Amino acid sequence: METAPAPRAGCPVQLTTFIGREREIAAVDDLLQSTRLVTLTGVGGAGKTRLAAEVAARVTPRFEASAWVDLASLSDPALVAELVAATLGYREEAGRSAVQTMVHRLCECDTFVILDNCEHLVDACAEVAETLLKGCPSVRILATSREALGVPGEQAWLVPPLSLPAGVAAAEVLSSEAGRLFLERARAVRPAFSLDDASAPAVAQICRRLDGIPLAIELAAARVGVLAPQQIAARLDDSFKLLISSGRSTVPRHRTLRETIDWSHALLDPAEAALFRRLSVFAGTFSLDAVEAICPDAGVLDVLSSLVDKSLVVMETVGGEARYRLLETLRQYGHDRLTAADEVADLRRRHAQFFTELVAAREREMFGGAGERELTARLVAEEGNFRAAGDWAHETGDHTTSLRLCAALHWHWYARGHFREGWKRLQEALAHADGVPPLHAGKAYVAAAMTARLIGALDQVAPNAARAVALLRDQNDAWHLSYALVFLGVSTPDPAAAERLFIEATGLARAHAPGSVLLAFGLFWHGVLALNQRDLDGAERL
Ligand SMILES: Nc1ncnc2c1ncn2[C@@H]1O[C@H](COP(=O)(O)OP(=O)(O)OP(=O)(O)O)[C@@H](O)[C@H]1O
Ligand SMILES: [Mg+2]
Repeated sequence: METAPAPRAGCPVQLTTFIGREREIAAVDDLLQSTRLVTLTGVGGAGKTRLAAEVAARVTPRFEASAWVDLASLSDPALVAELVAATLGYREEAGRSAVQTMVHRLCECDTFVILDNCEHLVDACAEVAETLLKGCPSVRILATSREALGVPGEQAWLVPPLSLPAGVAAAEVLSSEAGRLFLERARAVRPAFSLDDASAPAVAQICRRLDGIPLAIELAAARVGVLAPQQIAARLDDSFKLLISSGRSTVPRHRTLRETIDWSHALLDPAEAALFRRLSVFAGTFSLDAVEAICPDAGVLDVLSSLVDKSLVVMETVGGEARYRLLETLRQYGHDRLTAADEVADLRRRHAQFFTELVAAREREMFGGAGERELTARLVAEEGNFRAAGDWAHETGDHTTSLRLCAALHWHWYARGHFREGWKRLQEALAHADGVPPLHAGKAYVAAAMTARLIGALDQVAPNAARAVALLRDQNDAWHLSYALVFLGVSTPDPAAAERLFIEATGLARAHAPGSVLLAFGLFWHGVLALNQRDLDGAERL
């Protein structure tokens, strides 16, 4: 069965054809009927994520709700629960943690949750999975991870290699999954490529040599543009022998992939190798403009295209725009190379700067949490990169960048239900606000006032708003001063004092941002105050 790629809600869009796996899909589907947590395990590149996507496509229609949660770009275990909840579309409810909110809401319907790439967050994923399974009898979970989660009742299921050619005849190669994958990917780079009895033995040898590991086969097949299958087979053989003689004695299955990546990497020209390792600085997907701005390389588009041709970078189209991604195994490999080249610090700094400027330039457009669809889509697509940028700023003690990111992102976090993440990052950064320019600190304090309200930390609203107002008074930023004054008003118990704050806030907004959401925001809260005072005429005048 070779299915054409089709977009599916919640699932990552696959642009390449899917090969075989009928038995595996049926087996996992069966398991999911009798077990509530199935974890697909196996080495990197074994096809866990891809198999999960196919299983999900078959299973999801039986459920009322489903969510595909990609954990690869998340590094903080504390945020797993919130990411799952937000992906399901649940906002945290005041007084309840993300997990409690989810348990509460999930019990209302049959839900299928896919946790993809759990290996680096095994404990946190296990905890969330266990809580969901215990709390909601109608939830089922499919996880992918290089190791099992270790949750009671979990069924770990080792993803087998693709089936291998039974012999060396073209027909035998074509009736194996590994052989078909090779052919498909080879045709993507050389449409005229065909299997005949001359090339089939080499392809069979490659498939066997690569233990039927899909990613390894894709990397090898991507080379048919410049090498005949016989040459690929011979070179793989040589390179593996070289590795063996260099001290790594055997080639067990879990090492095959690493060696295939080494081989593929060794064939890159210096410009390709440099860009490849630098791309590992991205978390999740990335756009061409980001690569051009962050990576110091020349002719990025050409080099990127050749990395796509070599299966080292995946291209996908989101909303009509091309974005790129490194498969997790390749990203880790690239990151090792980046470390060896001593470029990590520089690249991460450039990455953090780019994403901070990107979001800071558009922060007002997100005010109120409902930015243009194009902007929201871009911010959603960059969430992994914002997290990586925030982590970098935190780790290196660049508190100004931390606070700028928090301030610029807080309405997006609001729109997406990432309240805890916002609160945690704000708390971490504001602990070091002292040396930060007052404008940036002030903006972060008002973000903290607003986030405190969202998570139900009501005693934190007024102090944060007051600090924001104090800092923003002489900053020549009427927009944020007005915003801070509204929050101070909201948290001021004395109605007359609150009213004065609202009047000042709306006056600033009228003068500097007429017709804006900011003005509407101030008027809204002023109106709420008037209503609470039973001043209906006053409310109406607003
Ligand atoms: N049955 C298949 N048909 C076509 N392509 C496949 C198949 N299985 C895997 N692939 C491809 O092989 C590559 C590796 O697969 P995948 O990303 O699913 O591996 P993984 O086990 O999830 O790896 P990791 O541990 O790094 O997350 C991907 O490019 C994927 O599209
Ligand atoms: Mg995966």
